[in-house]
Amino acid sequence: MTQAHAPAKVILFGEHAVVYGRPAIAVPVTDVHATVTVEPAQSGKGIAVNARDIAHTVCLDDAPPDEPLALTVRNTLAHLGLHECNLDLTLTITSTIPVASGLGSGAAVAVALIRALSAHLGRPLDAAQISTLAYQTETLFHGTPSGIDNTVVAYEQPVYFKKNYPIEIFGVHTPFWIAIADTGKPGLTRVAVADVRTAWQRDPAHYDALFDAIGRIVDRARRAIETGNVNALGPLMDENQALLRQIDVSSPELETLIAAALRAGAAGAKLCGGGRGGNMIALVTPRNAESIRRALLDAGAKNVIVTGVGT
Ligand code: PMV
Repeated sequence: MTQAHAPAKVILFGEHAVVYGRPAIAVPVTDVHATVTVEPAQSGKGIAVNARDIAHTVCLDDAPPDEPLALTVRNTLAHLGLHECNLDLTLTITSTIPVASGLGSGAAVAVALIRALSAHLGRPLDAAQISTLAYQTETLFHGTPSGIDNTVVAYEQPVYFKKNYPIEIFGVHTPFWIAIADTGKPGLTRVAVADVRTAWQRDPAHYDALFDAIGRIVDRARRAIETGNVNALGPLMDENQALLRQIDVSSPELETLIAAALRAGAAGAKLCGGGRGGNMIALVTPRNAESIRRALLDAGAKNVIVTGVGT
C-alpha cells in the first residue's frame, strides 16, 4: 500500500488579478489535507478511484473523459508512459478540506492522487511535474485557472506566483497567524472568474487599473513577509479587500465575517480565493486568536481554522 497527502492552501493576496498576469501570494495550510492510498486490486478489476467521504466510486474503464478523478489518473499514467498497461489498483481518497470554499480542495485531491499513484508505480514525480499534471485537472473546474492552486499545493511552500513566470518560493522572516473562516456558502470561483472577465471586457482600462493596484499590494506584502514587517500586513489585507469589493467578488456573508473579525481586533481581513462565498482570512496574534475565532463563529462562520504561516 502507498499513501500520499497534500495540504490545503489560502491565497493571502492577489486573487482574481492573478488571472490577468499580476502576482499573487499563497501559502499551504497543513491543518487540513487530502489523503490518497493506493492498493493492488484483484486481477482484471482495472483501476477504481473511491472518494470515500462522498461514497463515490469511479471506474477508469467507463468514466467519461471529463470526469476529474479519472482524468487525473489517466494523465498521470500517460505522463509515466503506462497508459497502455493493464493495471489493477484501488485508489482511495479522503479529505478534511472543505469543498468549494477557496481552500484548494480540488487541487489537493489531484496532487495527492498524482503523488500516491506515481510513488506506488515506483516513479515518484517532483513538485513541478505534479503541479503541471494537477493544472490539467484544475482546468475542468475553473475553465481558465491561473495555476496558483496546483502550484502552492504541489510545492507546499509560500509562493509568489505570476502566470507564465517561473514560480518563486520565498521565506517567511517572522511567523504570523491567520484565522480562516468559512461562510458556509459555497464559493463560486468559476462564476466569479467569468463575471470578472465580462466586466473587464466591458471596461478594460478600469479593471486593469484595479488589477495593477492589487499587484502593487502583493509586492508590498511580499517585502513585508520577507523582512518580518508583520504590522504592515493587516492594512494591506484591508486595501486588497477594498479592491476585491470594487471588482464585485465579495458577498454579504464575507463582509459580515470580515467586519466581525476587525471588531474583535484582527489587524486586517479579506476574502480569499474566488469569493462570493467560501472563506475569508483575518490577521490574528496568538493573544487575540481565540477571541477572534469566537467572534467569527458568533457572526455565523461554519468553521474557523487558526494557522501559523512560517511557523
Ligand atoms: O477559489 P479558489 O481557491 O480556487 O481560488 C481562485 C483564485 C482566482 O484567482 C480567483 C482564480 C485563479 O485561477 O487564480
